[in-house]
Amino acid sequence: MDCRSRLRSRSAVTEPTGRDKAAAAKAAPAVQAVTIDSFIAELAAFRAAASETLGGVAGAAGLEQARIEFLGARSGRLKAIQKLLSGLASADRPAGGRHFNEAKGAVNALFAAVQDTLAGAGAGSAAAADAIDVTLPGEPLRLGHVHPITQTIRRVQEIMARLGFESVDGPEVEDQWHNFEALAIPAEHPARDPLDNFYLAVARGADPLLLRSQTSTVQIRVMENRRPPLRIVSLGRVYRPDTADATHYPMFHQVEGLLIEPGTTMAHLKSVLRQLASSFLGGDVHVRFRPSFFPFTEPSVEFDMEWGGRWIEMGGAGMVDPAVLAAVGYDPEEVSGFAFGLGVERIAARRYGVADIRDFYRNDVRFLRQF
Ligand code: PHE
Repeated sequence: MDCRSRLRSRSAVTEPTGRDKAAAAKAAPAVQAVTIDSFIAELAAFRAAASETLGGVAGAAGLEQARIEFLGARSGRLKAIQKLLSGLASADRPAGGRHFNEAKGAVNALFAAVQDTLAGAGAGSAAAADAIDVTLPGEPLRLGHVHPITQTIRRVQEIMARLGFESVDGPEVEDQWHNFEALAIPAEHPARDPLDNFYLAVARGADPLLLRSQTSTVQIRVMENRRPPLRIVSLGRVYRPDTADATHYPMFHQVEGLLIEPGTTMAHLKSVLRQLASSFLGGDVHVRFRPSFFPFTEPSVEFDMEWGGRWIEMGGAGMVDPAVLAAVGYDPEEVSGFAFGLGVERIAARRYGVADIRDFYRNDVRFLRQF
């Protein structure tokens, strides 16, 4: 269809007669008639839509788009509503104008507020990046726990307590009487060599002091102060100038056990050691004695434990030597008992499968966290 024919057909349809003209002027005015109620409803819908859209605006581009849609001077939605004003009955127009201005002011204010917020967020974006996001899951707090050596000590104390052995402590700085003499280790004994002990510097003429080299010192301290029967266990640090390697460390821990009761034999000793080993390591642990020598026990043995198909050397033991009983004022004719000593690091390493005891003291939390 060309231009002319279109004009022609249109004029054919709209060409009004004289009577029609008068009717059209009445029924179809140039501006559509609007009631005040529908005008107010229109404004309310406009405000609701504007506030919903502006509430979801995330950046300057979105804001500009919303501005054009709602407040745009040429074809914005507010502009369209403004055109309806003239359709109101003249009596309603003042009220319509007031409603219109009110809605316009409200949406303009909302627009300005969103603009301010976005500008503020832009300026403070570094601060915003640092801000705490309360919706993120928290970082778990890592709870500490006791050191594996302390765990071992407590476990041994617990097991021995069930066998009636009371836990006792003794000092780490000792005199020669408790570390050697009362234990029948005389002055010329190689165990007293300054190269094998940590002697302390003391005032000239004062009695020598040393870091104890064994927990057998505690046997003496307890027997000096108590009468039999006795069942005690003492766990603590001992010191020897050994070069540190996978199985030695200049400081380590010992378990010392002492039982003084009438009728005690090596069989009782073996039973207690087996009970201790089985409870600590779990399962059926066998204990074996090998003849040995300690100045403070007679007879003396070294004992091994078999666990997981392997025999491991655990410590020394024996019947308390009569000379030791006499040194603390007991009558060797009346009382007897057994004593044993074993390394805490050794049993801990065995139980936890640690190949190098130095790992216990490196304070590497990645290692310690495993226990
Ligand atoms: N005190 C000894 C040591 O350190 C062990 C031991 C204790 C031996 C008790 C016999 C009796 O090697």
